[in-house]
Amino acid sequence: MNAKDRVSPWDAFQAANRFRRAIRKFKPKVIPEPEIYALLAEAAYAPSSGNMQPYELHWIRDPVLKARLAASCNGQKAAASAADFIVIVASPALGMRTAKAQLEHVERSSALGQDSKAYYRKQIGMFKKILGVGASSLWTPLVLLAALFRPTLSLVPVGHIGGRQWAARNAIFAAQTLMLGAAAKGIDTCPMEGFSAAQVAKLLNLPRGSVVPLVIALGYRADDARVEEQWRRATADIVVVH
Ligand SMILES: Cc1cc2nc3c(=O)[nH]c(=O)nc-3n(C[C@H](O)[C@H](O)[C@H](O)COP(=O)(O)O)c2cc1C
Repeated sequence: MNAKDRVSPWDAFQAANRFRRAIRKFKPKVIPEPEIYALLAEAAYAPSSGNMQPYELHWIRDPVLKARLAASCNGQKAAASAADFIVIVASPALGMRTAKAQLEHVERSSALGQDSKAYYRKQIGMFKKILGVGASSLWTPLVLLAALFRPTLSLVPVGHIGGRQWAARNAIFAAQTLMLGAAAKGIDTCPMEGFSAAQVAKLLNLPRGSVVPLVIALGYRADDARVEEQWRRATADIVVVH
């Protein structure tokens, strides 16, 4: 292949980004297992705050569980015809688990210099405080009150709700990475927040404190799937240049 025939990374990215649509009707066609594993592995490369990766990606393979999950998605068409589901689960506790694992990795590493190790120790220590003492529900009324007077404080990862929102926010990057990866492989997705979170948590036996920001339906778009014109606000309306 000569240089002019090679697809540039930008062209490849744009093609995947434009291929990705919220698809609500899938063909009855199986997604090969290695394809799903590849997507899950790639999603793990998503960025996260302090690299705390406060999430799990639950791949629902069991047919009975799949049917129950579809039923928990409020009868949505995408869920009814999905070949596979990935449920995004997040919690501050998962972030804390990562903090401990990451610290062990840093201490063991022979590749990291002393300056890097000192930096990571400090950063991980800070997150351990936020995810430990900071996750206490005792902070929640204070955060709510503070956010009333200073709305920009609404997103601080403190208190039992703030911590869960922080975890969910971080998990979404992995979800989007997975969906773009799927698009690059010609696999369709539908991100869904229309589901009963309580039912999904029960189905997957999630520990208390877990939240489910998104369920992703995967499959190959049906020939008669409705794929309408992709409308977005004008770039000039979204972008504010300072
Ligand atoms: C957080 C989130 C939740 C969504 N929930 C649903 C849902 O429950 N059901 C659904 O059919 N689509 C859902 N969507 C898909 C959006 O409707 C879709 O992304 C949007 O209309 C833009 O269309 P496009 O993705 O094809 O560009 C959701 C998307 C996001 C990001």
